Amino acid sequence: MMSSAVDVVVALASGRKAGQLYPSTHPEFQSAISLIVQAVDAMTLSGPLTVNVHQGRLYHQSTVIPVDAPGVHAIEEAFESRKIESLTFHAGFGKTDAIGIVEVLSLRPSPLLDVNEELKQRGVTAVTVAVLAEDDEEKEERDRLREQDRALYHRLISVMRSLSSQVAGGGMSDLGNAESMVGNIMGRLLEDQSAVLGLATMRGHSEADLFHSINVMIYSLTLGATLGLPEEGLSSLGVSALLHDVGKAAFDHADSSQTEPMRAMHPKIGADILSALPDEDPAPMLVAYEHHMHVDGGGYPERVPDYVSHPFSRMVAIADRYANYTNPVNDAEPLTPDKAIVQLLREAGSVVDPLFARLFAKAMGVFPVGCLVRLSDQTVGLVSRSGSDSLKPVIRVLYDAGGLEIEDPDEVALADSELTIIEVVDPANLAMAVADHL
Ligand SMILES: [Fe+2]
Ligand SMILES: [Fe+2]
Repeated sequence: MMSSAVDVVVALASGRKAGQLYPSTHPEFQSAISLIVQAVDAMTLSGPLTVNVHQGRLYHQSTVIPVDAPGVHAIEEAFESRKIESLTFHAGFGKTDAIGIVEVLSLRPSPLLDVNEELKQRGVTAVTVAVLAEDDEEKEERDRLREQDRALYHRLISVMRSLSSQVAGGGMSDLGNAESMVGNIMGRLLEDQSAVLGLATMRGHSEADLFHSINVMIYSLTLGATLGLPEEGLSSLGVSALLHDVGKAAFDHADSSQTEPMRAMHPKIGADILSALPDEDPAPMLVAYEHHMHVDGGGYPERVPDYVSHPFSRMVAIADRYANYTNPVNDAEPLTPDKAIVQLLREAGSVVDPLFARLFAKAMGVFPVGCLVRLSDQTVGLVSRSGSDSLKPVIRVLYDAGGLEIEDPDEVALADSELTIIEVVDPANLAMAVADHL
């Protein structure tokens, strides 16, 4: 069975090639067309034959058609560039059908190309075509970017893992790839802030500290971008945020007698580690030292009256508190994202910088990305992107009104819908991991 589907694809590919090389009256072209007809006829005796494309591969039913057969890749590309999802060959396939399909697969791809219409004009009757819907394409593109973003996040985890092990081993000589990786995340954040905020819902069970530092970086960059920092400033802020807790890597996490010294000493130790680097930018060192200082003089380490901390330290402090509230590294109960924002606004002016806290709340919205909400029709979904109206974000609906999980979730823009958010739901009640759905 399988080899015959391959034969059809191979014959299509050589027919297409012959059509480009020879006029239609040429014997080479004629014999290529006959081969297509033979291959299709052999396959359609027992019923229609469908060849479809999925994520860059051709399939016959659920079996991949191997790319090493000649022309398979070219046909896959010909399908994709003409937005063809599948071709179905039916019994009664003849020469006119073969010539028609070869010609259509050779037409110049364009957004205006209507494959079904072109086949009809050529008198093709034994081939039906399913064209990719615009929606599916958008979804595929979104999935592709999501995978790419997640890969970026994981590369950053490994950069941090190696920096941390250098610190644990007695010293860190340079920042490695940290700066260029921050640049990559920053670029994505400026393109699609919601996608990057979705990444910050990722949690690490065994390497919680590494995930924490990356999430604090994402929240800091979100604040910095809202503030309108130029790229150079954002880059320095991002690197500083990524390394704010680097001093913790000098402690043994498994030893509970180290917990309190680690808490108290990691700012100073982090600053010492970073000041030893041959880097001209003092911001990472300052942020490591100052990120637990409160604006009213509280917090730690202690300092002289009227000490003014670096603006980046005050920004990272907000990002750090938000990350800790929503995703505590210790055993504390997490707050839902909306409550964490409310809590930060309560702390504005005493613990955290009031201007930055308000800007952060504005950037995150009333229902931040990752917030699980119940809608007025009793469905439950995740905020997947913020809307221009902060009360009307875009929701990925995950559970139907009866509480059953929806298999292929749709997105609803509340701005274009009658639906409203009626409450925020604690993901723990549904035993779900938010990051799996963003
Ligand atoms: Fe810290
Ligand atoms: Fe932290």
